[in-house]
Amino acid sequence: MEKGIARLAVLSAHLEVSDQVMQPGIEPWCTSGASVPHGSLKGSLTIVDERTGKKYQVPVAEDGTVKSIDLKKIATGKDDKGLKLYDPGYLNTAPVRSSISYTDGDLGILRYRGYPIEELAESSTFVEVAYLLIYGNLPSQSQLADWELAIFQHSAVPQGLLDMIQSMPQDAYPTGAFVSAMSALSLFHPDANPAHMGQDVYKSAQVRDKQIFCILGQASTIAAAAFLRTEGKPHVLPLSNLSYTENLLYMLNSMGNRFYKPNPRLARVLDTIFILHCEHEMNCSTAAALHLSSSGVDVYTAIGAATGAINGPLHGGAVEAVPKMLSEIGTVENIPEFIERVKNKKRKLSGFGHRIYRNYDPRAKVLKKLADEVFSIFGKDPLFEVAAVLEKTALTDEYFIKRKLYPNVDFYSGLVCRVMGIPSHFIIVSRIAGYLSHWRESLDDPDTKIMRPQQAYNGVWLRHYEPVRERIIK
Ligand SMILES: CC(C)(COP(=O)(O)OP(=O)(O)OC[C@H]1O[C@@H](n2cnc3c(N)ncnc32)[C@H](O)[C@@H]1OP(=O)(O)O)[C@@H](O)C(=O)NCCC(=O)NCCS
Repeated sequence: MEKGIARLAVLSAHLEVSDQVMQPGIEPWCTSGASVPHGSLKGSLTIVDERTGKKYQVPVAEDGTVKSIDLKKIATGKDDKGLKLYDPGYLNTAPVRSSISYTDGDLGILRYRGYPIEELAESSTFVEVAYLLIYGNLPSQSQLADWELAIFQHSAVPQGLLDMIQSMPQDAYPTGAFVSAMSALSLFHPDANPAHMGQDVYKSAQVRDKQIFCILGQASTIAAAAFLRTEGKPHVLPLSNLSYTENLLYMLNSMGNRFYKPNPRLARVLDTIFILHCEHEMNCSTAAALHLSSSGVDVYTAIGAATGAINGPLHGGAVEAVPKMLSEIGTVENIPEFIERVKNKKRKLSGFGHRIYRNYDPRAKVLKKLADEVFSIFGKDPLFEVAAVLEKTALTDEYFIKRKLYPNVDFYSGLVCRVMGIPSHFIIVSRIAGYLSHWRESLDDPDTKIMRPQQAYNGVWLRHYEPVRERIIK
């Protein structure tokens, strides 16, 4: 009975705002003046195939891209299927054109929709930045109020999902519990599933917005519920008078006491951390979200998969790996030996290095300062000194200099979260805003196709079936 009432409450909360459609800002990426500094790169390449002596013209688009399909015509003869790009790890492959974020790894630049990350981190809130990412412009006052309300009104999690979380082992890894619960959200939204409703279901702006509200609203509640489950504590519902980040702190710490007031300075710190982490163009997990959604699967499944991908230690899982590594090092005296192990490839220096940044990650700079703010509230984490000396040692060591390895966003995030008592998977909640903005962008992109990479086959060319008794074990 109770479960039925809870489910009804969720449904009615959804219906209340079901006719609400966000008024998106304009989409083109050069909205306020400055265009790309390099101007048009349009032209063509002349390729001479030394194998055949043949010449080919390949068009280059304004943004300096060539279509890899144009290389397919470069072949040596009829049995040659044409050139393919071999690009393990997608070192230089752009599966999309996007107007959401811009990075320059050499200069250490990150912009969301043209705004420098430092400005947003200083002045904005996570919810406002989520709107910016998803709809293209910062919201007006009334758009912001509608947006906040819509997200809150969709923050109730179906009782069935809470029951699922409750049935997870209590010693479950909280991030794993979060990832599983995010994927399970798909089961509670059949009304927006292309598998049931047809591929056109996301053509409706209203349907898209509804899924965006639901995912952003419910992700924070699920993140808290997953953590509380693993702590053996009861689930707590968010409150309407608190902001998104205040609610996360409230659900985490209040034990359901409605008079509990989250520390506004900590909520501000969490907002800043969320802004820094919420988008980073075509990284592994965002690509995973787009890869899944390109098949037409529902957005919940696509986002659930992305939250799984980000969890790896080479990606967002580094947030958790860094404090573990620092604890393992223990004291500054042990740093030289640890660095030697890294240089001998016995292990990686977590929180260092980045596919894009060959310079200091601009987000890490902001986070280092933020750490001071957090320590002024909680007192200094002894591991911070280890981190600072480790950073200094690495930055003056030839191994790291030569490879242009600098601290990335996760180097200080993990410590800040640890001191604040924030489970590391909360950071994934913020990245969901980035996933959703790319998902939404892909729905309108005429170039979107099912993502289906190629391979270069290097196996046995042809052989014939041998009955089991005649097989020779090689
Ligand atoms: C982020 C990361 C996966 C990027 O990988 P990538 O772009 O494929 O770079 P590569 O692995 O090719 O690294 C290039 C060189 O630097 C080394 N390297 C990269 N990151 C390193 C690290 N954190 N510690 C030690 N060596 C590192 C590699 O071993 C390689 O050395 P080599 O030229 O002798 O083979 C990688 O830097 C890493 O594993 N970092 C640690 C995990 C982390 O903090 N992830 C969070 C990213 S936000």
